[in-house]
Amino acid sequence: MEIAKKLEKIWIVNGIERKLIVDPDAFLSEVLREQMHLVGTKVGCGKGQCGACSVILDGKVVRACITKIRRIENYANITTIEGIGTPQNLHPLQVAWVVNGAAQCGFCTPGFIMAAFRAQWEALGKPRVITACASCQSAFAIGAPDIPVVSLWRVMAEETGLPETAGATANGPLAVHDPCTSRHDTASQAAVRDLLGRRGVTIEELPLSKNMTQCCGFGGLADNAHPELAAVTTARRAAQSKNDYVATCAM
Ligand code: FES
Repeated sequence: MEIAKKLEKIWIVNGIERKLIVDPDAFLSEVLREQMHLVGTKVGCGKGQCGACSVILDGKVVRACITKIRRIENYANITTIEGIGTPQNLHPLQVAWVVNGAAQCGFCTPGFIMAAFRAQWEALGKPRVITACASCQSAFAIGAPDIPVVSLWRVMAEETGLPETAGATANGPLAVHDPCTSRHDTASQAAVRDLLGRRGVTIEELPLSKNMTQCCGFGGLADNAHPELAAVTTARRAAQSKNDYVATCAM
């Protein structure tokens, strides 16, 4: 194949930006499997009939076996079965498939789960996703950009107000730690401070906060990758205030 025919493409695949040199006449399934080694996408009929090769492309379920590379724009968002769940952390749909014995030989299962993933959200009437955790919010924004997602704190601050049973308030000032994934989300940062204020909490701003917020040591599985470094990072952040901390991240 003439080198000249190859194209440089940049896609967001399972939330990660990937730059590839590809043949414009190749099919998406070929590039996913052979070049990116994302072999969760299976090719059964190869004719766009069976659905085994289904992936989500810019919010739509497509047959990867008949989707030509030249038709996929740069910065297209592609989600494959590897982006839905992992062997260590299966998506509820995958668990349901296993528990109910839906996976027979399993060859077409990835395609079915990809289609079901979208269909479930659409069947619910395409609701917006409300997350308490900034990391979950950013994961949705990257991995499923067509699904509207909003922080719980904004919903409470801007729409519903605090629940009546909001519980006891703090016994003193609270240091606000802005999660790194909320770095550019000024609206959620403001909402958290507004809600604390409504509860009569005195807010202590840490030396580095909001868009300059500092790593807590827990994110990105740092604790798994390098526990010593994670511990030092957490201790440094914790040493910046003598008050209790409030954070809005599941990490
Ligand atoms: S492999 Fe059958 S539709 Fe793609």
